[in-house]
Amino acid sequence: MSVISEEKQRLWIEGLSITELAERYSTPCYIYSHATLESNFIAYQEALRGHKHLICFAVKANSNLAILQVLARLGAGFDIVSVGELERVLIAGGDPKKIVFSGVAKTSVEMRRALEVGIYCFNIESEEELFLLNQLALDLGLLAPISVRVNPDVDPVTHPYISTGLKESKFGIDIKEAEKIYNKAKKLKNIQIVGIDCHIGSQITEIQPIIQALEHLIVLSDKLKSQGIHLEHIDLGGGLGVRYENEQPPSISAFLNSVLKCFSGRNETLVLEPGRSIIANAGYLVTRVLYLKNNDVKNFAIVDAGMNDMLRPALYQAWMDIQSVNCDGYKPKKYFDIVGPVCESSDFLGLKRLLSIDAGDLLCVHSAGAYGFAMSSNYNSRPRAAEVMVSGDQAYLVRERENLADLTRGETLLPEQILK
Ligand code: LLP
Repeated sequence: MSVISEEKQRLWIEGLSITELAERYSTPCYIYSHATLESNFIAYQEALRGHKHLICFAVKANSNLAILQVLARLGAGFDIVSVGELERVLIAGGDPKKIVFSGVAKTSVEMRRALEVGIYCFNIESEEELFLLNQLALDLGLLAPISVRVNPDVDPVTHPYISTGLKESKFGIDIKEAEKIYNKAKKLKNIQIVGIDCHIGSQITEIQPIIQALEHLIVLSDKLKSQGIHLEHIDLGGGLGVRYENEQPPSISAFLNSVLKCFSGRNETLVLEPGRSIIANAGYLVTRVLYLKNNDVKNFAIVDAGMNDMLRPALYQAWMDIQSVNCDGYKPKKYFDIVGPVCESSDFLGLKRLLSIDAGDLLCVHSAGAYGFAMSSNYNSRPRAAEVMVSGDQAYLVRERENLADLTRGETLLPEQILK
């Protein structure tokens, strides 16, 4: 964030005004602050200084190459969930030795590629996956490093769609079964046990559930040690929340201080997989108001960004802060539903927002850096937005806006003879 006044912070990203950026790159457009991205990552590094650690950015939160490149340069590792994410990390200069591979549905092709490049660890989510990985490693004459992702049955107290550590969830292996799996893994020739893993959910705003999960992992790690299975690391996943409205998540350092307390006297490396807490507040979605429209009960501001650009409000009823960039203060404030161009009633960025807005104005959606562009789609045949990185008073286009040709790339028309 820039160092200018509170009011102006809404209008500027580092040394550039949003108005100027919107003119240069058009809208809708994602804009990222290099400084905020760096300082979030450095906050993790600083807080963990003094304990062996590996901070693996969860690529799913934002997989733009430039974001990954900045983080790789700072020494980040990466948490991936597909071979697509793996290739992105490699292109961006990420170190394969710092990659952990999560996900319930890794395919043979994906695991083989990850074995070939020599990733740090596979987070195993089922017994069958473990056996398949062993076979693939055998075929390649390699050792596959693994941790078991356990499901500790802890309620993260967050939206049900982003809770992953409860029994009902498809993720991980029941913690009560984990010991058995480790003992099976120990007998497999091409498997090397290196750690234990969990991830209980996302947008977690209280420390307690994460600590509770960690305590379960520590108990299990000690138990395994007594059986001759020594774990190099404990991976606590991601999940630290950010402030969108009036949530009060702990700061990165407060969160990690609590985590490190549990680690005192322990030898395992602490692995983390943060996504949102590193990139959310470094990103903004800038959109232009196309039309205003009202009826007896509502004022609508119809904007050029839709649920295909930012899905979170439609999918999770997520509240995201929306500010008027123009802020001239002359127009009276009214309650607006900020709605997009997509033909769905759930296509909104925000409901009942008290704002002063005119057609042609720019609006800025804050904390849009995580699960924003990454979840965008071409629904309604809308090209995906441009992405821009601001660093000081320089801006770099880090992903071009898609064009109409991009929309039909890879599609073909049927041959004439089958058309009646
Ligand atoms: N590790 C694993 C195995 C995960 O599944 C996730 C997120 C993370 C790490 C990173 O979690 P974070 O630090 O970002 O909370 N689309 C949703 C969030 C889905 C999170 C999925 N897993 C949203 O927009 O709120």
